[in-house]
Amino acid sequence: MSTKQIPQKNSKKALKEPSPKTRRDFLILASGAAGAVGAGSFLYPFVSSMNPAADVAAAAEVDVDIKSLQLGQAITVMWRGKPVFIRRRTPEEIQSVQEKDTSKLIDPELDKDRIQKPEWLVVIGVCTHLGCVPSGQKPTDNRGEYGGWFCPCHGSAYDVSGRVRQGPAPKNLPVPPYTFLDDTTLRIGKEAPVNV
Ligand code: FES
Repeated sequence: MSTKQIPQKNSKKALKEPSPKTRRDFLILASGAAGAVGAGSFLYPFVSSMNPAADVAAAAEVDVDIKSLQLGQAITVMWRGKPVFIRRRTPEEIQSVQEKDTSKLIDPELDKDRIQKPEWLVVIGVCTHLGCVPSGQKPTDNRGEYGGWFCPCHGSAYDVSGRVRQGPAPKNLPVPPYTFLDDTTLRIGKEAPVNV
């Protein structure tokens, strides 16, 4: 790589402070990039294009606009370097995971203990076997026998509660801390108040 210096013809001008307007434009861009995403979007491209300090701040808590997500749709957002799956479940999907006896499950857990609102499932999209990202975010993806996600690496299958139903994965997909700021905005990375 050449180390030749490019002469600065007008060094005073080059060192001038950015105008207030320039600063304002940058702030608007930065806050827009850390803000909401809509259905079918990935937050990752926005976060990765930011500078490291802003990237870390944005990844600690991520706000997601979920209002355009239709029943049966899902989106992926990046949070602390991991994909988080947000799925708006249909009444049939919710019904399919309401069994009372979980003793036969690989990692027994009731659906109601994994959600805050029945329509919305939020899980970390990393297979608990060896860390592949399971498929199933798009309706056309292979979602496996239980309708949630299927991990193509070694064949684990998850249901629409994110619970493992077919190994070798040993654990359910983890639920990250999150809270509803309002009916259409999720904050991932923040625990919900205890009375939710
Ligand atoms: Fe998913 Fe092995 S990493 S089944």
